[in-house]
Amino acid sequence: MSERVIAIDGPSGSGKGTIAARLAKELGYSLLDSGALYRVLGLASQRAGLDPEQDFDAIAQLALDLPISFGRPDDSAPWQEGSVWLAGDDVSLQIRTDEASALASQVAAIPAVRTNLLQRQRDFLQGEGLVADGRDMGTTVFPNSPLKIYLTASVEARAERRYKQLIAKGIDAILPALLRELQERDERDMQRSVSPLKPAEDAIIIDSTDLSIEDVMSQVLGLTREKLSN
Ligand code: C5P
Repeated sequence: MSERVIAIDGPSGSGKGTIAARLAKELGYSLLDSGALYRVLGLASQRAGLDPEQDFDAIAQLALDLPISFGRPDDSAPWQEGSVWLAGDDVSLQIRTDEASALASQVAAIPAVRTNLLQRQRDFLQGEGLVADGRDMGTTVFPNSPLKIYLTASVEARAERRYKQLIAKGIDAILPALLRELQERDERDMQRSVSPLKPAEDAIIIDSTDLSIEDVMSQVLGLTREKLSN
């Protein structure tokens, strides 16, 4: 039997983060939020005064040594679900801003960065199994995964979801601007030379444009039972 990894890839706003987190909890698997690695690297590069359009070697080196931790700053601290730490600093909110999203997709386009983050991502496979959320989980990081899901939705639906999330949090947002940002990020993620965003050949494609999170979750659970039931 191949490795117990469920790879969930897709563009921003497709709902894959929510689905991956719920699925990991339901199955008792570990969770890899690979986007958070690129987001933290973008922030760390900015803090170090590096330019993602030029300082490729320095950013790739930073990727190797990145002092990132998930859930708590160190082993002795209490667990804080969903938190992300950079060198002991809680960056959970900072890495989710639109500026951080753009920076993440810039550093993610540097080939040496992707190479240098490969092993770190594979190391998340421990214990019962892993749900891996990203853009290239099924194509590059876990090519032997027995279940690869490519979750997508129209760019309009994804922008609208993001708009509603921000408004619900009391944050001002402009729908056409969100739509443009998503289109730019999709373009950069799909056009880059290394590990571009695309479904693996053996991925199951789910279009969530007209589906609720519950609908997607029940499809994914059904597929999990089918493919990992031994
Ligand atoms: O998934 P999330 O929106 O947090 O990812 C932020 C950015 O990181 C993406 O737009 C993409 O450029 C990059 N990324 C990537 N490969 C992954 C995960 C994220 O290139 N596996």
